[in-house]
Amino acid sequence: MALVLALESSCDETAAAVVRDGHLVLGNSVATQVDIHRKWGGVVPELASRNHVVDVVPVVREAMAEAGVGFAELDAIAVTRGPGLVGALLVGLQVAKSLAWAHDKPLVPVNHLAGHLHGVRLHLPGEPRPEAPATPFVALCVSGGHTALYLVGDGRVRQIANTRDDAAGEAFDKVARMLGLGYPGGPVVERIARDGDAAAYDLPLPRFKDGGAFDFSFSGLKTAVLTVIQRLGALPQGRAMADLVASFQAAAVEQLVQRTADAARAHGVGDVVLAGGVACNGALRARMRAVLEPGVKVHVPPPRWCTDNAAMIAGAADAEAERRLGAGHDPHDRRLNAVATWALSA
Ligand code: KG4
Ligand code: ZN
Repeated sequence: MALVLALESSCDETAAAVVRDGHLVLGNSVATQVDIHRKWGGVVPELASRNHVVDVVPVVREAMAEAGVGFAELDAIAVTRGPGLVGALLVGLQVAKSLAWAHDKPLVPVNHLAGHLHGVRLHLPGEPRPEAPATPFVALCVSGGHTALYLVGDGRVRQIANTRDDAAGEAFDKVARMLGLGYPGGPVVERIARDGDAAAYDLPLPRFKDGGAFDFSFSGLKTAVLTVIQRLGALPQGRAMADLVASFQAAAVEQLVQRTADAARAHGVGDVVLAGGVACNGALRARMRAVLEPGVKVHVPPPRWCTDNAAMIAGAADAEAERRLGAGHDPHDRRLNAVATWALSA
């Protein structure tokens, strides 16, 4: 589809974007609520819904104005249908439905994770179009809510690993909270870790006895950090804090990289894609490249397409529209509902 407007409101970012041909981002607007949720140390669903209602129309207006297009020119309206916080999703979904109805456009419900996997394809006007990963490829989707590996073929996505407990981003957020470093944890942990010695503490990598070879687990790592704090008797300060944070980050990164490398090897792929907010992490990007390249090419989107945004939803709309048409869904069906869980596999 040539021109798609998308809305995204699955968590604590209200976003809208206009994307041409699935890759060129003509307009992109993101209103983040981090300042609102910060004092609670995490996303409060009710507050997220209320603030989406406030921000949703302004972000649509901004994205459309930046793109310089009118509603009549759109080929479709896409929206995140799930997975996510249902009250939050409903705001974007209802606005997208209303716009689609008012302007008589097809409505494309998009899986948020399919969106994340599409981040690597996006670019702004004036930027070169990123090289598409060759299929099949392994994708690591690593965010505040998800940590999973996918094997992506032409028109086919299969989940090959998942976290057994916390998502990686959740671990960054919880460890930062334990250490009194604020929210969200990822960026502050990365900043403090730069001054620390990653070898100061030997923190554990999970092992599974039941053959879930590529699966992830972060709760043991979180507990190990808590044990260090208890042993110290107080929160570490200065260099000692940097050492602990750097050791935590290194253990989290090592787990993500080793599991991804194992999966890439087992499935014989030549390309690996990183997606989701944790893919902003510089240590993860560097270590993934160091371990996999040159044998396997690592594709990493710029940070703006890693964290939640609507351009990735617009970009993923084509494939989703095709799949739904094939399954006999009516693109003018206005009865769509949001879904809290929605496994990505087709
Ligand atoms: O994809 P995202 O914006 O929202 C979800 O769908 O969850 O990811 C947010 C998560 C948060 O847990 C945040 O701490 C983490 O991504 N994050 C990072 C970094 N930047 C964001 N984690 C590690 N290092 C970073 N630089
Ligand atoms: Zn996300």
